[in-house]
Amino acid sequence: MRQALLLLVVVLRPSWADPPQERVPLFRVTRQGPWESSGSNATDSPCEGLPAAEATTLSLANRSLERLPGCLPRTLRRLDASHNLLRALSASELGHLEQLQVLALRHNRIAALRWGPGGPAGLRTLDLSCNQLAALPRCAGPALSSLRALALAGNPLQALQPRTFACFPALQLLNLSFTALGRGPQGGIAEAAFAGEDGAPLATLEVLDLSGTFLERVESGWLRDLPKLTSLHLRKMPRLTTLEGDIFKATPNLQQLDCQDSPALASVATHMFQDTPHLQVLLFQNCNLSSFPPWTLDSSQVLTVNLFGNPLTCSCDLSWLLMDAKRTVLSRAADTVCAPAAGSRGPFSASLSLSQLPGVCQSDQSATLRALHLPWFDPSTYAPGPTVTPSAAPDTRPAGAQQNVSKAPTVPVGSRAIAAWPHSDAGEGTAPSTTNSVAGHSNSSVFPRAASTTRTQQQGEHAPGPVLEPDISAASTPLASKHLGPFTTSWNDIHSPQPGQRTQATPQVPNPTPSEGGIPVFLLDDYSEEEEKGTEEEVGAPYQDVSCDYHPCKHLQTPCAELQRRSRCRCPGLSGEDTIPDPPRLQGVTETTDTSALVHWCAPNSVVHGYQIRYSADGWTGNQSVVGVIYATARQHPLYGLSPGTTYRVCVLAANRAGLSQPRSSGWSACTAFTTKPSFALLLAGLCATSGLLLVSTLVLSACLCRRGRTLRLQRSDTHLLAYKNPAFDYPLGLQTVS
Ligand SMILES: *[C@@H]1O[C@H](CO)[C@@H](O)[C@H](O)[C@H]1NC(C)=O
Ligand SMILES: *[C@@H]1O[C@H](CO)[C@@H](O)[C@H](O)[C@H]1NC(C)=O
Ligand SMILES: *[C@@H]1O[C@H](CO)[C@@H](O)[C@H](O)[C@H]1NC(C)=O
Ligand SMILES: *[C@@H]1O[C@H](CO)[C@@H](O)[C@H](O)[C@H]1NC(C)=O
Ligand SMILES: *[C@@H]1O[C@H](CO)[C@@H](O)[C@H](O)[C@H]1NC(C)=O
Ligand SMILES: *[C@@H]1O[C@H](CO)[C@@H](O)[C@H](O)[C@H]1NC(C)=O
Ligand SMILES: *[C@@H]1O[C@H](CO)[C@@H](O)[C@H](O)[C@H]1NC(C)=O
Repeated sequence: MRQALLLLVVVLRPSWADPPQERVPLFRVTRQGPWESSGSNATDSPCEGLPAAEATTLSLANRSLERLPGCLPRTLRRLDASHNLLRALSASELGHLEQLQVLALRHNRIAALRWGPGGPAGLRTLDLSCNQLAALPRCAGPALSSLRALALAGNPLQALQPRTFACFPALQLLNLSFTALGRGPQGGIAEAAFAGEDGAPLATLEVLDLSGTFLERVESGWLRDLPKLTSLHLRKMPRLTTLEGDIFKATPNLQQLDCQDSPALASVATHMFQDTPHLQVLLFQNCNLSSFPPWTLDSSQVLTVNLFGNPLTCSCDLSWLLMDAKRTVLSRAADTVCAPAAGSRGPFSASLSLSQLPGVCQSDQSATLRALHLPWFDPSTYAPGPTVTPSAAPDTRPAGAQQNVSKAPTVPVGSRAIAAWPHSDAGEGTAPSTTNSVAGHSNSSVFPRAASTTRTQQQGEHAPGPVLEPDISAASTPLASKHLGPFTTSWNDIHSPQPGQRTQATPQVPNPTPSEGGIPVFLLDDYSEEEEKGTEEEVGAPYQDVSCDYHPCKHLQTPCAELQRRSRCRCPGLSGEDTIPDPPRLQGVTETTDTSALVHWCAPNSVVHGYQIRYSADGWTGNQSVVGVIYATARQHPLYGLSPGTTYRVCVLAANRAGLSQPRSSGWSACTAFTTKPSFALLLAGLCATSGLLLVSTLVLSACLCRRGRTLRLQRSDTHLLAYKNPAFDYPLGLQTVS
């Protein structure tokens, strides 16, 4: 029962300085929702105005309380005592609140904490943000063994002692943002600060927020105790200058690293991200980075990088970020600029937008490009091993290998532009305040909408979780990243090259995959825990001889490669990404009105990143109208703004990295003609004229009928009078006849 009806007794006192009308009611009924304040001073004496014994949610915010009332209902699940004057908190004092799950004590003056045994056993979320804690007490054994989220943001904490969080063996989210960590002489976070009891790692923590602290570096000494870490927030850290070393060695599950607005961060040793094969989001906007070299991406990775607002130096070494839009999405590529290096000449003598880099670097056709260690050429990325060993794989390749940039073994139809977040969904809705930690970054192009901060009792149960939704803002990402979600992915997928799909890069480099010699089968998808559950033998399993349930003409058709991943079926042969796609087959134009029409087509058997529609009126000599990028999953698109009663010629084109399809002379047609309906206005005029005519004729007709009717009625009333002689009838009829 969330909405408890509370009967609040309004205590009348002469000294009460409220407006007069507030004094009138003796009793006031307030509807108390979660976290709502009644806004009165009814609890001046601790127990007054407290709700009935079975209340589950209570807000005592803004009551100037110096301590919590002693008579809180035992059934309480959520208690908000924010914005009060509390000075201390002792967990054991709340021990009688066995149901308590959420305790919010933001904006108090708490300077002393005592965990101790006997605290509220069910407490999951404790918010102590914006208090006056300068130190955290040592833990003696697990005190709050269910605690999942602990917020200590905005406290003047300067240092963390070893095993500070050992009393919270289930902690998943720890928010230490805007604390004074690193400011004092004590040195910030101690080596084993995140060690649990007995020095074991704090193996449940997934989200750590150190934003706004004064730490100068991230140390592997404390990060190594967080093996489950998925999300690390290092925003607005004024003193953070470098990220380097083996810091992520022990955190292979890291999915998000958020360093935005850390103005001194000038160096990131990106090769360390080889230790984090699940990394999906890297936010470095408004830092001080001048370069961002590539590293070996895991084959399953879809990485979003934001480098907006950094003093980048122009170089083809940055163009890897834009080379494969299905694997790496550079957010705001068009607004991210690089500056020429001092004394540089040639194409890099002026500032450039990063989105221009591929063009500049590709047309340059120089040795720079070939020597560039593009991560997706690394054959080890296609090995089905659980982790990509940081074995400096790119460097073992012959530097001058004659690889054509666009000829990597590719998955058709952009199936990897969307990948599932390898995570169970938020659990039983226990601690809502902790489930949205990542949701705020709305503008990154590929961003998990639901963060995974409250994985609760579902360990190991990896339902295909929330799905990445690529941003649709056109400027920053080329066609390829634009697909309609949501697709779910299973995690035990293999993919083999299709007939006709070129895999030229493969024979040129030694291929270390175990599938060598057999049917060339590449494990392109993610390694995940699910694979541990005995699907390993399926690697290299032959394809079932079943065609996929794929219809080239179905609107919002899931790409065949995606279906193939799920059910190991056969897809129609696709030509590769480096080949200009075949033209789509135009099915027809329906729903034509005077100014709009709906064009339908079927997909060609080619890798398609998007479609384009071109149309022009018959006899028009100017340029054709072009409808830009249409999703690869679309099979129909409306045209608007057409002229009425006009014949149009319309063509559908398929696009991929190699270019646009060319209209074909033989076979099916990608073009057709249709005629719009006559103008609605004209129709309306016609309709008006017709109805006018009708009206006139109706009038004429009714006039005629009237006359006729009168004569008829005359005759009939005569018969009435004669036949029945009913006086009641006679009178009005008589009147009528007289008149
Ligand atoms: C509650 O009481 C305090 C002092 O007793 C006063 O400052 C505050 O304005 C009162 N709040 C309300 C909502 O009446
Ligand atoms: C309490 O007061 C603060 C500012 O004084 C305000 O921001 C907050 O919304 C108030 N909380 C409630 C529950 O009324
Ligand atoms: C950014 O880096 C440059 C040198 O790389 C340095 O001179 C500058 O002070 C740095 N900016 C900040 C805010 O630390
Ligand atoms: C790569 O292949 C494309 C088409 O197949 C070709 O136009 C381009 O020149 C090639 N690039 C290099 C660097 O060989
Ligand atoms: C940490 O707390 C701050 C301040 O309350 C908040 O802005 C931030 O979003 C929190 N971080 C996470 C990861 O929830
Ligand atoms: C996100 O993008 C929209 C338009 O694409 C823009 O109006 C908005 O300001 C952006 N928000 C942020 C936080 O960058
Ligand atoms: C047609 O397109 C070309 C290039 O796309 C452009 O230069 C030209 O001005 C356009 N002509 C008209 C009439 O719009």
